[in-house]
Amino acid sequence: MGLVAHWQAVNTGVESVRAILAPAKVNLVLEVGAQRPDGYHELATLFQSISLYDRITLCEIDGDLDLVVSGPQAAVLQHVETEENLVCRAARLLSAAVGRPRPGVRIELEKRVPVAAGLGGGSTDAAAVLLGLAQAWGVQDPGLLQELACSLGSDVAFFLSGGTAIGRGRGELLTRVVLPPLWLVLANPGRRSSTADVYRTFSEHKGAGRPQKLLGWHCDAMINVLRREGPGGAGALLHNDLAEAAYMVTPEMLPLRAALAAAGAIGVQVSGSGATLFGLATDASHAAEIESRIRSIAAWTWWGSSLCL
Ligand code: C5P
Repeated sequence: MGLVAHWQAVNTGVESVRAILAPAKVNLVLEVGAQRPDGYHELATLFQSISLYDRITLCEIDGDLDLVVSGPQAAVLQHVETEENLVCRAARLLSAAVGRPRPGVRIELEKRVPVAAGLGGGSTDAAAVLLGLAQAWGVQDPGLLQELACSLGSDVAFFLSGGTAIGRGRGELLTRVVLPPLWLVLANPGRRSSTADVYRTFSEHKGAGRPQKLLGWHCDAMINVLRREGPGGAGALLHNDLAEAAYMVTPEMLPLRAALAAAGAIGVQVSGSGATLFGLATDASHAAEIESRIRSIAAWTWWGSSLCL
């Protein structure tokens, strides 16, 4: 079951209007290996969808392609050219691939996931648009969606099915995993983090001369502990090879790391290339308590659960 399960016909009586929930992710583990000839780094990562969503509504229109952005995280996107937005690129790519003269769609994006924050916000929106338009247009070609997803970004393919998965290659070679549910607290310092900058900093400071690692060890260890012990044993195994570079690029994350730990999080780690940190909690009330303790020092916080799709 993938994101399509979140589809719901909006109660307008018009079949051509659809609403989709696009969940964010954290990386419980992110192992980074060698840089490849194409410039990307070889990864082994444990992706986990979480119950923090953007909401996307697709409406069939007579025109070409419209985008309307709203919601608490919309302001940043006002500076992004409409055609540069990943949701528009996704709509154009699929439309061209299936031979439509134009997409003929208005995309309403209610942005709740912070932008450029290591939570996959743009990628999940793009995947939701690919899935939504494929369903609306009767496109039944998972290989095509996978190919278009990869051309839009390294973690877009993960969001086509979401849930929990190990990502290899540049993040697009996926193996589904079943894990027990987790409770998490997120904190962001209100600074956008460029993924490319963080990888560049990582390569400059750690990449050269590093012994080649056997990628996947940390992912396997995390999966085994979560299955055996639940979140209690997992704190020490949260792992992110980009963390040091992310703290160099966005030092404003450092007080948030200390605050999450002081508030009682089981473990704290950077998600993706930052600048969002996540902490694990034992249950919902523990997560709520941690969030209430760190709220005043972070620009943005959230607590909720993992999504087992
Ligand atoms: O694919 P995506 O657009 O998310 O990647 C943004 C940037 O992050 C890439 O241009 C590259 O610099 C870096 N990256 C990388 N290795 C990966 C994924 C991303 O070096 N596996």
